[in-house]
Amino acid sequence: MKFFVDTAEVEEIRDLLDTGLLDGVTTNPSLIAKSGRDFKEVIAEICALTDNPVSAEVAALDTNGMIAEGEHLASIASNVVVKLPLTMDGLRACAHFKRVGIHTNVTLCFSVNQALLAAKSGATYVSPFIGRLDDINLDGGALIRDIRTIYDNFGLETEIIAASIRSANHVSEAALAGSDIATIPPGVIRTLSHHPLTNSGVAQFLKDWKDTGQSIF
Ligand code: E4P
Repeated sequence: MKFFVDTAEVEEIRDLLDTGLLDGVTTNPSLIAKSGRDFKEVIAEICALTDNPVSAEVAALDTNGMIAEGEHLASIASNVVVKLPLTMDGLRACAHFKRVGIHTNVTLCFSVNQALLAAKSGATYVSPFIGRLDDINLDGGALIRDIRTIYDNFGLETEIIAASIRSANHVSEAALAGSDIATIPPGVIRTLSHHPLTNSGVAQFLKDWKDTGQSIF
């Protein structure tokens, strides 16, 4: 499963890039607002750091507005992926971008039928929000599993991005459900390496090593 980082904080991305774990970046209007920075400037800075896909979301609600904004965003760098809402207008814009060869991420997906529509409209990626479903006592992991089944049934090539990830458990749940990608907040990425037995094991090995009185060099 590929890892995207879900953030508009350029320093967080810079810090995580040298782990070799990152396969892409997603942003959204809320993350841009939280950064307090200029949207296009942030996207340009992120794209200067990585050649991997960087999702930038349109703000317009109508197809023509989405197309105009998306083309503008796509002109920032060749790895910009235009993020579109899963509405009929968004799907029309998605079909347009498919025709002209611009990659898309159809976002705010909460049902299998929506995911089917995104794939039929030619979306490069679809983003089912598992955390927001779990928040209202629905099963985000089951949605990923069902989308995986349907995409495999029909050979649909749209890649599934498990989004709205809130915890390490969500990451493993997305992987088990067959998601192609999980887009993960930086703080959650950092927790994935944590295990108390790793910490106690390192401490014990270090103690025993010191007792040998040896040095590797
Ligand atoms: C996906 O691309 C979104 O940016 C994101 O995962 C939304 O997560 P949230 O539900 O925590 O806001």
